Amino acid sequence: MLRRSAAKKNLIYGTTISAGQIAGDPPFVDLVLQQAGAVVAENDMKWRVMNRGARDEDNYRPADTVADFAHENDLTLRGHNLLWYQSTPSWFFDLSSRQEMAGAIVDRITALAGRYRGRVHSWDVVNEPIGPEDGRPDGLRTGVFLEMFGPDYLDLAYRTAREADPNARLVVNEYGLELDAPEQEARRAALLKLIERMQRANVPVDAVGIQAHLSCAGGPPFSAARLRRFLSQVAGLGLTIQITELDVTDENAPADQAVRDRLVADTYARFLDAALDEAAVKMVMTWGLSDRHSWIVRRETNESKWRVDSSPSRPLPFDADLKPKPAFEAIAQAFANAPERQPG
Ligand code: G3I
Repeated sequence: MLRRSAAKKNLIYGTTISAGQIAGDPPFVDLVLQQAGAVVAENDMKWRVMNRGARDEDNYRPADTVADFAHENDLTLRGHNLLWYQSTPSWFFDLSSRQEMAGAIVDRITALAGRYRGRVHSWDVVNEPIGPEDGRPDGLRTGVFLEMFGPDYLDLAYRTAREADPNARLVVNEYGLELDAPEQEARRAALLKLIERMQRANVPVDAVGIQAHLSCAGGPPFSAARLRRFLSQVAGLGLTIQITELDVTDENAPADQAVRDRLVADTYARFLDAALDEAAVKMVMTWGLSDRHSWIVRRETNESKWRVDSSPSRPLPFDADLKPKPAFEAIAQAFANAPERQPG
């Protein structure tokens, strides 16, 4: 059981879930309860998912289903996410002033983080704020929030989240931090700079979320030493680290299923062996548990991640029939190899 092998080292292991899966897929839910010590809503807490219509028409039902599921089953709950440039309701862009936009951001964060106050272990407050490709000297992603407020939108979001739920750990969640490539190095540098800026301004931030959407073949190389160095830089700033969205695509792997599964498993092993060496890493979430429910298999990824043959991707620890794959063994082994960390 992944949650037990993780817990032996004071690590938390978990997976995404959705209200639809909770209601409609009891065998999958049984697997989640067997394997996971934590859950995160894959989509149900995103702003544009909760609010598809007018400003005052939030739908909390799916988000409540996930939060209640966690509570009833004594699972750690991650909150994903309070603010994401990709998931902003369409009415937000029509607001006519900076002040109105600030009010909408504060309302959103206060309402959602406040509703689950005391029940959420950690919130991805701002998801994916980094974007060196946008050309700013600070490496921040441009977009509606940054254009309206400059980097101060982050201060507003994190301060509001702290007030709404003082016990939740506040996370900056980001992708493209794992590999040995100049563009990822730029993303790492920008993230470190952002954390330092927030700390100088006394903006509350507790953890970095490393998404870790990996590929088992092709793409930039992985350097364990490079990843370790970055994780120790984050730890050196006094923050904890969560691996928040781990999965492994197999778009460039051969069709042979056994070969593919081995490559995927090896990628999990290489990444986790390096990441878990850093004692500040406290939590590992995979972005799904079974290939039955994966954004990669549903082809919600960029097309470059799709397999060109007709075989479905196999990115997660369990297959679509809920049977464990070599990736499951690799993750369990990585937890077994991990040094024990301090509880909490
Ligand atoms: O629910 C509708 C369904 O009614 C409709 O028939 C179907 C047709 O396309 O779409 C369904 O919505 C999709 C939704 O996932 C649920 O499956 C959306 O089109 C699709 O865009 C959405 O993709 C999600 C994506 O974020 C965008 O929000 C993925 O499931 C989700 O895994 C992914 O997660 C993100 C993290 O939040 C942040 N980090 C990166 C990660 C991957 O992009």
